[in-house]
Amino acid sequence: MAAAAIRAGQLVAFPTETVYGLGANALDAAAVARIFAAKQRPSTDPLIVHLADASHLERITADIPPVVERLAERFWPGPLTLVVRRGAHVAPNVSSGRDTVAVRVPAHPVAHALLAACDLPIAAPSANLFSRPSPTTAQHVLADLDGRVDIILDGGPATIGLESTVIDLTQTPPVLLRPGGVPAELLLDVLPDLRVPAAPLIAAEGEAASSPGTLLKHYAPHATVVLLRGDAAAARHVAQAIVALLHSKGLRAGLLVPDEESPLYAGLQAEVVGLGPSADLLAVARYLFARLRELDSLGVDLILAREVDAAGLGLAIRDRLFRAAEGRVLDAGAPFDLARWLATLPPGFAVANPQQECSARRRI
Ligand code: TXA
Ligand code: MG
Repeated sequence: MAAAAIRAGQLVAFPTETVYGLGANALDAAAVARIFAAKQRPSTDPLIVHLADASHLERITADIPPVVERLAERFWPGPLTLVVRRGAHVAPNVSSGRDTVAVRVPAHPVAHALLAACDLPIAAPSANLFSRPSPTTAQHVLADLDGRVDIILDGGPATIGLESTVIDLTQTPPVLLRPGGVPAELLLDVLPDLRVPAAPLIAAEGEAASSPGTLLKHYAPHATVVLLRGDAAAARHVAQAIVALLHSKGLRAGLLVPDEESPLYAGLQAEVVGLGPSADLLAVARYLFARLRELDSLGVDLILAREVDAAGLGLAIRDRLFRAAEGRVLDAGAPFDLARWLATLPPGFAVANPQQECSARRRI
């Protein structure tokens, strides 16, 4: 039924090992246009094409660089996306008119079954509304896209929880465009000249950048997020001052902290949600987006999220939190002026007071 829907040009949300995708026939421009409309995604941000098997690559690209074979052998099926030259059959709007196309072979059995049954390449971005946290359960998809998608396949929670790593093989040397499920360290084994940007790539809005999809605001919950950097004791100290200030203004704080730091925050007037143990980045990654959505459902106005180490999956976790925070980083180790810091937040935080019943989050 889902495969028939894809063949008929409809939209099918399906599970992958990374996050849920919102799929349509990649060879049908009208079907692909429905993806952009359903997600309210700018047409300048290209989509990833999913294949059942690496042997189907020639359906979507005319030019397969030799390194693709080695990458595919090692990382497919799995959370790695390769940007290569676009073949003539792929609908141009998949690639936002570029002459390149992003492709991956997902590892999830339901995704594989869907791709095999429809025998078509499926274009699929994450199945969330544009700029919202990516969906890692079918319930997240429903929350964002109810009424905008024809079928949702429920394959349970995603195991990786973060999107695929995207690398551009059309540039020399190849460039890591988005850290993700395959850690950069592993890619360097196969691609020793891979350029791994030291800081998150950031594109200006509307910019036809070489790295589309790198907008600063991305993966964001409704609450305002701030990334809290620094050692545990300093972070606790700063968080306490912020929580007290917000409380005095009638606003609610959420804290997203590694499990081992959670006890430090007991007793504060804040919703404390564990990120998972910082020694287990697989667990942190798996539930990261679900945790952001959970804090939203608790109705907090501001989320202070602790920064994690950048090694391994940590690079992707950091990237997602940085974008959820729209680049707001607070270094707890640096001198801290609460009033000045407050002025860096959206205006609702400065004016709110206990007499005003509505929260800053609703007014912003
Ligand atoms: O794990 C994933 O990759 C998930 C699942 C559903 O496969 N998909 C996903 O898609 O995250 P999306 O659309 O949310 O992110 C695709 C990223 C964007 O940053 C986009 O700009 C980039 O891939 N991308 C797609 N085509 C590209 C191209 N031709 N050149 C450069 N970047 C491209
Ligand atoms: Mg996305």
